[in-house]
Amino acid sequence: MNYKQWLAGQLTAKLEGISQEALAELIEYPPNPQMGDLSLPCFKLSKQLRKAPQAIAEELKAGWSDNASVQRVDAVSGYFNVFLNPAVFANEVVGEVLTRQDRYGSQEYGQGRNIVIDFSSPNIAKTFHIGHLRSTVIGNALYNIFNFMGYNSVGVNHLGDWGTQFGKLIVAYKLWGDQAAVEAEGIDELQRIYVKFHDEADVKPELEDEARAWFVKLEQGDEEAHKLWRWFVDISLKEFHKMYDLLGVKFDSYAGESFYNDKMAEVLDELKTKNLLEEDGGALLVRLDDFNMPPALMVKKDGGTLYHTRDVAAAKYRKNTYDFDKAVYVTDAGQSLHFNQLFKVIELMGYDWSKQMQHVPFGKVSLEGAKLSTRKGKVVNLEDLLGKAIEKTREIIEEKNPNLENKDEVARKVGVGAIIFNDLSNNRIKDIVFSWDEALNFEGETGPYVQYTHARACSVLSKADPSETQSFEGFDPKHLENEEAQGVLRQMYLFKERVEQAMHKLEPSIISRYLVDLAQSFNRFYHECKILKAEDAEVRKARLALVESVRITLKNGLALIGIEAPEKI
Ligand code: ARG
Repeated sequence: MNYKQWLAGQLTAKLEGISQEALAELIEYPPNPQMGDLSLPCFKLSKQLRKAPQAIAEELKAGWSDNASVQRVDAVSGYFNVFLNPAVFANEVVGEVLTRQDRYGSQEYGQGRNIVIDFSSPNIAKTFHIGHLRSTVIGNALYNIFNFMGYNSVGVNHLGDWGTQFGKLIVAYKLWGDQAAVEAEGIDELQRIYVKFHDEADVKPELEDEARAWFVKLEQGDEEAHKLWRWFVDISLKEFHKMYDLLGVKFDSYAGESFYNDKMAEVLDELKTKNLLEEDGGALLVRLDDFNMPPALMVKKDGGTLYHTRDVAAAKYRKNTYDFDKAVYVTDAGQSLHFNQLFKVIELMGYDWSKQMQHVPFGKVSLEGAKLSTRKGKVVNLEDLLGKAIEKTREIIEEKNPNLENKDEVARKVGVGAIIFNDLSNNRIKDIVFSWDEALNFEGETGPYVQYTHARACSVLSKADPSETQSFEGFDPKHLENEEAQGVLRQMYLFKERVEQAMHKLEPSIISRYLVDLAQSFNRFYHECKILKAEDAEVRKARLALVESVRITLKNGLALIGIEAPEKI
């Protein structure tokens, strides 16, 4: 049930010339329950209706006819306020959660249309760092949110697996590489020789020529070059998969930059035919002066293609393959110009679907003052970060709940959850400073707090007499009229709207923050109201139904942002 729509439906006939849609947009949930559960501010209607806001509110009040869902209405300072009947509201909300279960909050908004989500997209032979983690976490949440909203999400990992750096890596490996070391150390060792290449090339510039020559060989399909490249890719993927497994993230496609190698000629031909390519000192580019952007470089002087060229090919390929309704790219805000250029080039090529593409930028992450990456390639390794989170969580569990079963598994779920939640706890565009104490605080606005609240709900339910939790049918909503229960119900009702907002704004933090609000309202209820110890069986039943609904809603919300919900912590 959508109460804004419902109230708008009740009022539209009484307000001439004002549509139900327009009214639904105006209706608010007053932050203070003393102002009612729903409120229509009449200020914006004043001009059109040629009446004072308070007069409009008074008329709505006078014309209101009794309705089982509503306890009373009021007109105060230009607001028309509606107080819902708390028992009817409780019945409605709990009824919906219990009926819809793991689909509670979902909608068929997308009607099966495709959305391509380009996320994570780390670079081969380079460390998977905390910036890629943010892309992974935000992208994965969007993937789940869009699916939940009736879209078909297609997750693409646009691996950075092509480009001149592979020429450098091949040269470096041939000079200083050691197969056993690469096999044992993986990306760390590749990174080490790559950094060494840069140091040496500073004094021996001819190394750069060699690297370019090797990349040309690679592009032309030279067997040795290709074999080495494939090996670097496999070594890197193995490490990335460890991260993805820990995070519980999956992709539908790993078509990275190399996938487009054989599609470059076609893109360049098309750009040429459409008169978009301009030569500039041997390089080929698309001028974007008219749009206040620097040119998009498509071919370098040495004939090599670039990140841009491959993104143009990738966009066309995705449109042809998935016929997307929307295509989003989740990267740090530093790439905004790149994507604005890309979308403009696609538009200039005559594709109106450029409008369906969107960059989803996010801010930087720093780790309690420490630098996350230096020029020398030293970065905070994500595997270490997750490992440390799990370890620290394990210590907290040991202290709080030493008898817990499956401590390792729970520590993994909570430790990883803490990191994910921390990444999603603020608007994505904000820079975040990662702090261990904040991320792992079981009492703060954190993943562990929400997970712990979920486990608390599970624990209450598991301690109840099984006959009381078998079915909640016929619970008496009158027993959920008290303020604490109503506070929980109000939050629980908002879930569907929050998911919708998160989708429209491509902002998973809306769900994270929502989960904290719901958890807080539930904990207030839990501390103020007896549940298992309530003497009256009917009271127990109604309260248990509420607990079960909270459990479901928390679990659904956590799942959307990619966090597991263990039953015991
Ligand atoms: N590999 C790039 C990086 O690490 C991100 C790629 C984003 N996706 C894209 N289609 N350009 O910065």
